[in-house]
Amino acid sequence: VSAGHGHGFELTEIDHVAIAVRDLDAAAQWYEQTLGATVAHRERIESDGVEEALLKIADSYVQLLTPTREDSPVAKYLERKGEGIHHVGYRVTDCTAALESMKAAGATTIDEAPRPGSRGTTVAFVHPKSGFGTLIELVQE
Ligand code: CO
Repeated sequence: VSAGHGHGFELTEIDHVAIAVRDLDAAAQWYEQTLGATVAHRERIESDGVEEALLKIADSYVQLLTPTREDSPVAKYLERKGEGIHHVGYRVTDCTAALESMKAAGATTIDEAPRPGSRGTTVAFVHPKSGFGTLIELVQE
């Protein structure tokens, strides 16, 4: 029985672990040089005020994340907590079903409905107060 089974969706992978950084180029270069990881994708998401670099690790990613403007949520995160793990992205077969299932279980969501994410994905965020202190992102490819 797979994870999420019986809730109308399946959890198929850790899609990504997102790390907030101040200098995206320096962080990407560090991961490439010291870990041998490769930047597979880079994207600026204006609506979220972030730029990301995705390092492909097997079927998952490490997502380096930096703010592109002062009022970006990631800018506020860096100010408050400094660099470090920002959220965990879970790959699901059905983002709508996963979000509705979590809502039905009482989770506080940030997104009312799924929306477009980077690299053509559909995503929704669940508040860290529901995730024992960790921001959760549901990702459907
Ligand atoms: Co993410």
